[in-house]
Amino acid sequence: MIAIGADHAGFEYKEKIKELLKSMGLEFQDFGTHSKESTDYPDYAHSVAAAVSSGKAEYGILICGTGIGMSIVANKHNGVRACNVESTEGARLAREHNNANVLALGARLTSWEKAKEIIRTFFSTKFDGGRHQRRIEKIHTLTKL
Ligand code: RB5
Repeated sequence: MIAIGADHAGFEYKEKIKELLKSMGLEFQDFGTHSKESTDYPDYAHSVAAAVSSGKAEYGILICGTGIGMSIVANKHNGVRACNVESTEGARLAREHNNANVLALGARLTSWEKAKEIIRTFFSTKFDGGRHQRRIEKIHTLTKL
C-alpha cells in the first residue's frame, strides 16, 4: 500500500496521482489534505511517514510546493528514506542506491508530465542491494556520532 499526502500546494497533484496509481494497479490510502485551503505540510508528512515507519504502508508519496518541507519532515521518522527529486534519473537512483521509500514532489517546481514520469520510474525501479545495503544500514545507525 502507498500512503499519499499533500498540503494545499500539492492537493491538485495528489488528486491526479491517485488516478495515475489506479491506472497502474497500485493500492493507496489518502492521508489528506482534501481541499486547496491553506494547511501546514508537516501534518501530512508526519501522517504518511508514520504509516511507512510502522509498516502500515510500504511506500509514501508526499507533495507540497517544493517537496523540500515534506522530505525534511518525513526523514525524521525511523526507517523512512524520503527523496525529493525533480528528474527521472534522480528517482531511479533514489530507488537503486538509497532504497528510498518515500517520494516527495514539488508541484510548483515540477511539471505534471515530469511528475508522472518520476512516479512511473520510482515504482518500477528495484533496490540494487549489495554495497548499497551496507550504506542503508548506516543511515539508520547512530552509533558513529
Ligand atoms: C506552502 O506555501 C509551501 O511552503 C509548502 O508547500 C512547501 O513548499 C514547503 O516546503
